[in-house]
Amino acid sequence: MVHAARVACQHPAVDLDLRLLAEDDAPAVQAAVVESLDHLRPWMPWAQQEGTEDGRRAWIRQVSADEDRHYGIWLAGRIVGGCGLHRRAGSEVLEIGYWVHPAFTRRGIATAAVRQLCAEAFRTHGIECVEIHHDRANVASGRVAAAAGFVHVGERRRRPDAPGQEGVELIWRLDRGRYASAAFRAAT
Ligand SMILES: CC(C)(COP(=O)(O)OP(=O)(O)OC[C@H]1O[C@@H](n2cnc3c(N)ncnc32)[C@H](O)[C@@H]1OP(=O)(O)O)[C@@H](O)C(=O)NCCC(=O)NCCS
Repeated sequence: MVHAARVACQHPAVDLDLRLLAEDDAPAVQAAVVESLDHLRPWMPWAQQEGTEDGRRAWIRQVSADEDRHYGIWLAGRIVGGCGLHRRAGSEVLEIGYWVHPAFTRRGIATAAVRQLCAEAFRTHGIECVEIHHDRANVASGRVAAAAGFVHVGERRRRPDAPGQEGVELIWRLDRGRYASAAFRAAT
């Protein structure tokens, strides 16, 4: 489990904890989301409304019962983002999603979280690859995928569901063989 795992990151100042969200996290998650709304709205359909703390608590309760795993990203005792492992593309694939509070971007936080989620994904029985999908207009998201060692494998049209999206989804993949290779370990 990633629960309470420590993440070592190449950015020297970053020392993250990823923890599965619990209902008690609702106030901290809600505060971080509200502070991040302008930054999230172009890309994240769920950020179009501000929501409430109670709503966030109910959402955490609901997703805790799902097969998907939703984590808070914690830095020095405060929540600075969220990420998850999602079953959206078949039984052998987990898809990673992420967001980082705008006051904490460009420190390697998303990349470090993705690396930790990859380790967790490949500990999961039957998972052969991990994917990141993002809209082509979301350049920062693609840079995270590249920095974490994913390979761009394709793109397809997809109806936009957030205002910054252009409607072309890029697909990045990391398969188990590449993840396990010495070359990948050396490069990331
Ligand atoms: C995308 C996002 C998660 C990046 O988080 P982050 O913690 O800043 O990312 P990192 O610091 O790990 O940066 C990883 C790479 O992306 C690059 N990057 C980050 N933000 C960037 C930006 N706004 N423009 C261009 N490149 C950017 C970094 O320079 C780094 O590249 P490098 O390794 O070549 O130096 C963050 O901007 C965010 O939350 N965006 C809104 C939500 C979102 O788009 N989520 C993804 C939906 S698919």
